[in-house]
Amino acid sequence: CGIVGITGKENAVDILLNGLERLEYRGYDSAGIYVNDQNGKEYLVKEKGRIADLKKEITSDVHGTTGIGHTRWATHGIPSKENAHPHVSADGRYYLVHNGVIGNFAQLKEEYLQDVNFVSDTDTEVIVQLIAKFAQKGLSTKEAFKKTLTLIDDSSSYSFLLVDHEEPDTLYVAKNKSPLLIGIGAGFNVVCSDAIAMLDQTHDFVELVDGEIVVVKPQSVTIENMEGNQINRKPFHVDTDASEAEKGAYPYYMLKEIDEQPGVMRNLIEHYIAEDGSIKIDEKLLAALNQAQRLYIVAAGTSYHAGLVGKELFERLTNIPTEVHVASEFAYNPPLLAEHPFFIFLTQSGETADSRQVLAQVNEWDYPSLTITNVANSTLSREATHTLLLYAGPEIAVASTKAYTGQIALEAILAKAMGQKKGIKKATEFDVAKELTFVANGMQALVDGKAQIEEIAKDVLATTRNAFYIGRSIDYDIAQEAALKLKEVSYVQTEGFASGELKHGTIALIEKDTPVIAIITDEKTAKHTRSNTQEVLARGARVIYIASRQLATAGDQIILPEVHPLLTPLLAIIPCQLLAYYTSLQRGYDVDKPRNLAKSVTVE
Ligand code: G6P
Repeated sequence: CGIVGITGKENAVDILLNGLERLEYRGYDSAGIYVNDQNGKEYLVKEKGRIADLKKEITSDVHGTTGIGHTRWATHGIPSKENAHPHVSADGRYYLVHNGVIGNFAQLKEEYLQDVNFVSDTDTEVIVQLIAKFAQKGLSTKEAFKKTLTLIDDSSSYSFLLVDHEEPDTLYVAKNKSPLLIGIGAGFNVVCSDAIAMLDQTHDFVELVDGEIVVVKPQSVTIENMEGNQINRKPFHVDTDASEAEKGAYPYYMLKEIDEQPGVMRNLIEHYIAEDGSIKIDEKLLAALNQAQRLYIVAAGTSYHAGLVGKELFERLTNIPTEVHVASEFAYNPPLLAEHPFFIFLTQSGETADSRQVLAQVNEWDYPSLTITNVANSTLSREATHTLLLYAGPEIAVASTKAYTGQIALEAILAKAMGQKKGIKKATEFDVAKELTFVANGMQALVDGKAQIEEIAKDVLATTRNAFYIGRSIDYDIAQEAALKLKEVSYVQTEGFASGELKHGTIALIEKDTPVIAIITDEKTAKHTRSNTQEVLARGARVIYIASRQLATAGDQIILPEVHPLLTPLLAIIPCQLLAYYTSLQRGYDVDKPRNLAKSVTVE
């Protein structure tokens, strides 16, 4: 979910709505705002659906100088107007928006609120009712808020933004695990889940730490810890230009972000590789990595798939055994660790709760860590020992594209630097700047040739019920990401499969015209994968090849420009991203905001 708040500016409604639009990537099944004009007028507007649907409900009389807003990704309770935030206490005094999950909401309801009539099924409403209950018993708003926070159990995550209509220019703020920032303005202040929401208002933000209570007024921001001690913290400056998050002439962000990938490669070269070819990565980080007996890559979703390719890069260029783990699995069932482990967190947003949970554990164990992320100052970046940034520019489409290729390219640069330090020949000989330049050019050729891919999407994928991506070795890594991309934006049930494994069961699903997309870039296994395509062809499948070389076979072939064998994933994924994009459009879906998903999932 995404949260915004403002106090001290005339056009609070517009600012909240603009902010929510920029946070829509965090969830978009319902939304709402509350505003107060300080003269006794207040408005609560909520709607199921997108911010665009909420906007239609906002009449011209709705105005205010203080307000809070929310865009939701449902956890407790179906997407509906009643379950949309802000939630209001039964006495009408308190308005609350929340991002996260309250683990013990049912117990709290049972213990304290048996006499209260609830209008929603959310965990959030329990919290706002509880605050009101304690205020009715004579506590000040701050005390009531604080007392409520102490009752929330450790499994919970939250960022809260609360308004008391008896004190309508004040926002009460607290967070635990979920991200939240205070933006500092002149005569006004804002609150948001992500700086991007408020970059048109300010570029100066104060980060909040778990367990603090913050009181935000137009002229002041007061941060206190639970013991009531005041905390002074300097704002940090965010350089990103608000326009970088616009889609310009593109119909969708996803297409813009696919097209930006050659630029992402060039940015990484510029940031991490000096003119003389030396790599600009902190020596301390390289030393810590090279001391590890084993690397543990931890991530979720697309970032996990970037980790799979990372394993190949780290093992081949540094000789350090590398494991890749899905964060939500690792968190509660960690493997037996090497004596000297090093943890690498891959996360576009830097906020994924599943990954953060593992990092918290790693910090408790006191093991070294690195976060590779696109978002400076994000939670996982702040909490890891080291950070490397992707410099890919804001990624807005829910389906990740440029962050994925950025992560792989940065893993290649890092592995090269590590291996070179260790004097490993393969690494010394790997001219990563030159090779990534070839990759950038190759990507450009592929995005320029998108018309061919649009045709294949129309022809083969527009109406199919299911599809398969197959490959071996590094091509299997790509197959998994390619399958995720297609299913998340087009809802075609797609599997990414190790092509040799297909015959051990899954081949039973192949029928006449089932699309099977074979990725063939790995020389060692190319022959075998080709045989596997013959097996599915014999059962009626419709095969498409994404290959490094022209094949002497019938059927659609997408030929990839030649690059270093370790970097072929960076090219092979481009046609797959485009296939997913065009298939989604063919089927009439909103490719940037696929159903049920959110870009940044801050609950476990
Ligand atoms: C969500 C998104 C995915 C993303 C995953 C991990 O589920 O929908 O696209 O890959 O989170 O996100 P991260 O920001 O940690 O890379």
